[in-house]
Amino acid sequence: MSEKELQAKIKELEIELKAIKKQKKYGLVWEDKLEDVVEDCKRNVPILRLKEKKKGIDPVIITDTTKDENILIEGDNYHALSVLNYTHKGKIDVIYIDPPYNTGSQSWKYNNDFIEKDDPWRHSKWISMMSKRIKLAKELLSHTGSLIVAIDDYEVHALGLLLEEYFPSHEIDLVIVEHHPQGAGSNTISRTHEYAFIITPPGVGFLGRKRQEGENNWSLKRTGQGENNFRQYRPKQFFAVLIDTEKGVVVGVGPEISRDVQKYPLSKTTEGFERIYPMDKEGKERCWRYNRATMQKLISSGFIEYSKKGALSVKKDAVNAVPVFSIWKDSKYNAGTNGSALLTDIMGTTNTFQYPKSLWTVYDMIELVHSDSDSIFLDFFAGSGTTGHAVLELNKQDGGDRKFILCTNNENGICEDVTYERVKRVMKGYKNKKGEKIEGLGGNLRYYKTDLVNIEKLHHTSDQAKVKLTYQAGEMIGLRENTLNEVDKNEWYQIFEGNGKTTAIYFKEDKEKLQKLVDMLEKKKQPCVLYIFSWGKNEYTSEYTSENIKIEDIPEPILEVYKEINRL
Ligand SMILES: C[S@@+](CC[C@H](N)C(=O)[O-])C[C@H]1O[C@@H](n2cnc3c(N)ncnc32)[C@H](O)[C@@H]1O
Repeated sequence: MSEKELQAKIKELEIELKAIKKQKKYGLVWEDKLEDVVEDCKRNVPILRLKEKKKGIDPVIITDTTKDENILIEGDNYHALSVLNYTHKGKIDVIYIDPPYNTGSQSWKYNNDFIEKDDPWRHSKWISMMSKRIKLAKELLSHTGSLIVAIDDYEVHALGLLLEEYFPSHEIDLVIVEHHPQGAGSNTISRTHEYAFIITPPGVGFLGRKRQEGENNWSLKRTGQGENNFRQYRPKQFFAVLIDTEKGVVVGVGPEISRDVQKYPLSKTTEGFERIYPMDKEGKERCWRYNRATMQKLISSGFIEYSKKGALSVKKDAVNAVPVFSIWKDSKYNAGTNGSALLTDIMGTTNTFQYPKSLWTVYDMIELVHSDSDSIFLDFFAGSGTTGHAVLELNKQDGGDRKFILCTNNENGICEDVTYERVKRVMKGYKNKKGEKIEGLGGNLRYYKTDLVNIEKLHHTSDQAKVKLTYQAGEMIGLRENTLNEVDKNEWYQIFEGNGKTTAIYFKEDKEKLQKLVDMLEKKKQPCVLYIFSWGKNEYTSEYTSENIKIEDIPEPILEVYKEINRL
C-alpha cells in the first residue's frame, strides 16, 4: 500500500470510528428497514378522498344532524397519520391502538409480505413500522393527551423501550389484562393475559379517574403527633395559603420558605390577601397536607375551602381517587365473549375478524384517561372498530359529544366489510343472533380513503405539482376545518360547509374570480376560512381579511407539514 493509500485508509477508518462512537450505547437498537408506504411519501403526498358510494356502502351516515361526524379512514395508517398531521396536529385527546402483535403466524404484512417466525429481521421490521407511526402519532396529541397501546409478550419489551425513547418525560404505566381466562399456548405457560401501556403527560395523570363518593372534608393542616406533622420534617409543606377574606375564598399560595428561615411575612400581601400558615393552637409550626404545586392545583380546581371561622379544608372526594390496579381481571374483559361473540352478534356471521378486543376493555381504558365529554379519540389500527363502538357507548352513557377517528387498511376487505359495517350497525341498530332488535347508539360517520398525489419531488416541488395538489386537497382541508359537506366545485374554487361555518379553496394564480368569491362568502354572514392558491406564504393574508373571513395559503403549508414528517 502506498503512503497516499495508507493516508486515505486512515481517514476512512477515522470517519468510521467517529460514526461508531456516535452510536447508541444503551436502549433499543434495530436495523431500520425501508418500508414502501414510507418511501412513497418522498415522491407523493397523501390526501383524503370521500369513499365511493357503492352497494352496501354509503360514505356518509347521519343519524343526528345536531352532532359532528366521526371519521373512518381506509388506507395505510402511515398515510392516514401524515394527513392527520395537517388536519389534527395537537388536537387528539386520546389515542388507543392495538397493533399487530408480531406473533410470526401471518399476523401482519410488511411491504406486502407476511412476517413469518423465521424472518431474521422480524423484530427490526416491527419496530421500524411502529417507530414511524408513533413518531407521527405523538404530534397529534393535545398537551393533556394520552396514548394507550395494547400488546402481548412477543413485543412488550421492545415496545416499552421504544415508548421510553419517544416519551422520555411522560408517565408510562403498564397494566395486565386477563383477556383470555381459558389460556392459550400450552407448551410451557398457558397465557391468559396481555398488556396495555398507558402513557400520560407529566403531572396530568388519569383525567377520567373516578373519585370515591363522600362529602366530608379533611383538615388541610396536619394535626398528628408524628414528626411528619411538623415543619421541621416537612419543610416543603410549609408556606402561606392566601385568602381573599372579603370574598371568603382561597386564592393561592405564598413562596417557599426554607427550613432555616425564622422570619417570614405574616401581614397581608400587597393585594390585600391574608396569609395563613399551618400553626397549631400552641403556636407550633405544623405543615400542610400538600406541597405548593399540589396545593395550587387543588386551589385552582376549587377543592380547598375556607370556612367563616377561618379553618382550611380539602374536599375529601377531590383527592380520594378510586385506585387503578395493575391487573385488570373481570369477566367483562374477556375477548371471547365481549369481543368475538359480540362481533358475531352485531354482524350476524361468525369469524368476520380475528381477535377483536373486548368492548369493555377499550371502554374502561379510554374512559380512564379523558375527562371532557367532547374529546377526540383516534385508533389507527382500528380492526373491527371496537374503539369507535366504545366511544359511542361512552356518549350514550352521559349524552356526550365525543368523536372518533378510526384508520385501518382494507386487507381482506376488513375496512369495508367489518369496520364500516360494525360502526354502521352500532349507530343505526341491528338484529342480534337471537333475532332481537338492538337499538342503535346513534352517531354520524364519514368514510374516507387515503390517496397519493404524485408531486415527483417533495423538496423543490414543481409549479405544476403545486397546482395539482391544490385541486386535490379539498376533502383534507374540509376535515381540517370541520366543514365536511362539499357544496360547490368548479374550475376556480371549491366550497365546503358544516357546523355553521364555510371553507373555500381558490385554485388559481389568476385572481379574476377571487373578489366575486369573497363577496359571495361575505353574504353568508358566517365564519369562513378562505384558502388562496399561492406560490409562497402570506401573500394574501392582509388583502382580503374581514370580520368573517380568515385567509390561509395553499399548498405551501401542506408541503411544509410533509417535509417536517420526512425529517422526523
Ligand atoms: C390487532 S388488529 C386491531 C383489532 C381491534 N383493536 C379490534 O378490536 O378489532 C390490527 C388491525 O390493524 C390493521 N393494520 C395493520 N397494519 C396496518 C397499517 N400499516 N395501516 C393500517 N392498518 C393496519 C390490520 O388490518 C388489523 O385490522
